[in-house]
Amino acid sequence: MRTELVKINNPSEQADDIARAASIIKNGGLVVIPTETVYGLGGDGTNRDSARKIYEAKGRPSDNPLIIHISTPEQAEKFAYTNQTYYKLAEAFMPGPLTVVLPKRDSVPSEVTGGFDTVAIRCPSHPTARAIISAAGVPIAAPSANISGKPSPTSAEHVASDLDGKVDMIVDGGECEIGLESTIVMVNGDGGLTLLRPGGITYDALLCVCDNVSISPTIEGVLKENERPLSPGMKYKHYAPSAPLVLLCGDEEKILEFLRHEQSEKKCLILCYDEEIGELLRDGLIPIGRHDDVQTQAKKLFSALREADRHSPDIIYAHLPQKDGLGLALYNRMIRAAAHTVKEIK
Ligand code: TXA
Ligand code: MG
Repeated sequence: MRTELVKINNPSEQADDIARAASIIKNGGLVVIPTETVYGLGGDGTNRDSARKIYEAKGRPSDNPLIIHISTPEQAEKFAYTNQTYYKLAEAFMPGPLTVVLPKRDSVPSEVTGGFDTVAIRCPSHPTARAIISAAGVPIAAPSANISGKPSPTSAEHVASDLDGKVDMIVDGGECEIGLESTIVMVNGDGGLTLLRPGGITYDALLCVCDNVSISPTIEGVLKENERPLSPGMKYKHYAPSAPLVLLCGDEEKILEFLRHEQSEKKCLILCYDEEIGELLRDGLIPIGRHDDVQTQAKKLFSALREADRHSPDIIYAHLPQKDGLGLALYNRMIRAAAHTVKEIK
């Protein structure tokens, strides 16, 4: 299949490009769309064949459900049974990087929800994503636009290297603003929330809207054998670079000492803080932002992991993030990419 690449900088001035992307979706094709979190591999969320094509292009097990993307929070009514908590969340965080899991209506084919009786719904804030959803007139089912097992794509180049020839169109909307996938919450019967995946909407922000938010244990921990996670995506190994990734914690000076020693011994790649550039051998460093700038670190993480892979190092080192605020999302992605390998430097 030939994949068309279209750059959309300003959707309001590129109505023809938006209409073409929308028409491909409506006709059962696949279009990769930019969002504020990561790029999404989009198809018609009401069409079971589109869902099958998405799973095939991504190489994803079809029991791992897709998120459907809408352009206004009220559109959820057509696809899910909403409640007061949903609208409180919508008022506070939509459009934006939040996905809400609700009981599904029959209008969503079971292929989209991986056989689940719930559906994950998100109203993205990226203007190009919103314009394409509106023009398509159908919700867009979209997982992250990476091949299963690769880091989520935060630029059109990442998407093209994974999906060129497997989708009808890639819409290039530049670098994603947040760089980590959306926060996912499940609304419980009692109106409380369970945080299934941390992201741009933090745990503390959720607490401002709902005083009963529990954190799914899979976010920080390892799944026990035969344990079934609430969010199926959590059971799959994700974002793993080819070389082993080791997360370091402990005293900063001692960590630098350790890294200098490692650099002299093996081909290592280091996702370092900007402040550390002058402290280590420049070769093999991928700076991901200043120590206290978690937002930049989040934005650069997936790109850094892809770059790390290209160098084929023996080993990759990075700092273990703090778990507060957006740090929890960074921690969750990194601990999984590292298959929970943490080394304390004393
Ligand atoms: O930011 C994002 O959420 C991006 C952009 C494209 O919107 N999408 C994304 O989709 O990250 P994906 O498919 O890579 O991750 C969706 C996660 C999966 O872990 C899946 O298991 C979970 O959402 N999920 C989907 N439907 C669910 C449901 N009904 N119940 C529980 N978890 C669900
Ligand atoms: Mg994904």
